[in-house]
Amino acid sequence: MRKLRLNKVVSRIGDLPAIPEVVTEVMDLTSDPNVSVSELSKLIERDPVLTAKLLKISNSAYYGMRQVVGTLKLALVILGVREVRNIVVGIAVLDTFRDEETEMLLGQHGLWRHSLLVAGMAKKLGAYLELSLQGEDFIAGLLHDIGKLVLWKQLGAEYRELYERAKRENIPLHQLEEDVLGFNHADAAAALAEAWNLPETLSFALGAHHRNNDRLQEEGPAPKLAALVRIANVAARDDFENHEAAELSSCTDERSWKALAADEQPLDIEARKEVLWGIKEEMSEIPSLSF
Ligand SMILES: [Fe+2]
Ligand SMILES: [Fe+2]
Repeated sequence: MRKLRLNKVVSRIGDLPAIPEVVTEVMDLTSDPNVSVSELSKLIERDPVLTAKLLKISNSAYYGMRQVVGTLKLALVILGVREVRNIVVGIAVLDTFRDEETEMLLGQHGLWRHSLLVAGMAKKLGAYLELSLQGEDFIAGLLHDIGKLVLWKQLGAEYRELYERAKRENIPLHQLEEDVLGFNHADAAAALAEAWNLPETLSFALGAHHRNNDRLQEEGPAPKLAALVRIANVAARDDFENHEAAELSSCTDERSWKALAADEQPLDIEARKEVLWGIKEEMSEIPSLSF
């Protein structure tokens, strides 16, 4: 079924760009549990722009670390190999789809700020619930709408019109995408992640962020990660929804809150509101991060 979806997306949008070399190399190297920190830092340091972005993200208030990490080596010691890998992959994937055209979507249309908010909220909620996701929460949040960039880049004017129309007619974007294209930007993100062999947990969480009425979420490889992204996305207000309704629906997404609690009792609605509003308030004061 997964392959089918990938084929469907690719046949509609054409060949995807090649996976950035550094992603393949970092994924290969870190698949060895005994990878040496100095080997990995040598590999990442070959790209000084990427290294600078890694440090900028990990020191930003969105990431919310208590300690400043001034160097890549220190980042590897404090955050660990897996977390650094996740951030590097996230940045490199995002960068592949940034150009003059998509900059408009990220800037003018607010997708960058929205992505940062979802990333920070997912990470803070994950930390509050002590899920120990090692940065995967942040990156899944940062990349959750990468499918919009993929479609913007691959389909050009056709997608931009669809995007404008959703806004004008106040239709949820993912719904209009499904009507017109037969899949939505979450499917496009998952297809990209699968084509690039990114971690299955990540591709699952990206693909599930607008999926409402099936059991995929509980049965997939990363139900908690997917639930975090869904809640953070709605709480950060998505797809032209009304502000208050969005805030409320992030707390009433029973399926996601149950997934987060696993076998335990999920938080009650009041507790959900309290924690989400607290995080949101904190996040709203952070200036946007540019790079
Ligand atoms: Fe989305
Ligand atoms: Fe979103």
